[in-house]
Amino acid sequence: MCYLYAMNHLIAPSMISADFSKLREEVEMVNESDADWFHLDVMDGVFVPNITFGFPVISSIKKYSRKPLDVHLMIKDPDPYLEQFKDSGADNLTVHIEGCDDLPATISKIKALDMNAGVAFNPETPVSTLNSILEGVYLICLMSVNPGFGGQSFIESSISKIRELRSMLQEKKLNAIIEVDGGVTLENAATILEAGGDVLVAGNTVFGSETPSNTITKLKNISAEVASS
Ligand code: DX5
Ligand code: ZN
Repeated sequence: MCYLYAMNHLIAPSMISADFSKLREEVEMVNESDADWFHLDVMDGVFVPNITFGFPVISSIKKYSRKPLDVHLMIKDPDPYLEQFKDSGADNLTVHIEGCDDLPATISKIKALDMNAGVAFNPETPVSTLNSILEGVYLICLMSVNPGFGGQSFIESSISKIRELRSMLQEKKLNAIIEVDGGVTLENAATILEAGGDVLVAGNTVFGSETPSNTITKLKNISAEVASS
């Protein structure tokens, strides 16, 4: 692998595709699996045309999870709620560049609350928009579908955006993690990682499969193959 800051690839199952009528079982499945993080998508019906879940569900998952909670906020103006996300158990807290009026201030607040700060950006937002805000950011969530729903198809032009973001990080000698979110499958996972992705978020691919834990293992095996190639 030729990154300046090589890391192990991570797998983050997206829990919006889980069966919420047996949430505890789903959490235990992820605990026992080869997954690294729980990816939790919070949507407000304003920033995106969908509403998912909020603090009570995050707290319930936290109660049984033995892996970090990677919380992805698709909400407009998240600042008033940052502390409650911390209290609910978020380890990584990712906000959208398109949803924040003063992104550097929001990032500072997330860090002051002792969470890892993430910045997400939409498919139509150019990588260059991130140029001045990358310093001190733990994770960049590159949306490879339009946010709002699980189970969408991967937008192919995301591959060149991943490469561009990887080069930008290398140039700036920054070691932020690149998370790729949306439409990740067993077929495209290797291409995404070879382009420079570090974390694969996968909802439908994992929870829509017959044996989700085996699918997580398959994703992990793909990432190991890419890392050793
Ligand atoms: C999309 C969410 C994604 C989504 C991924 O708005 O941010 O995390 O759950 O789901 P799949 O893997 O099904 O595209
Ligand atoms: Zn997400």
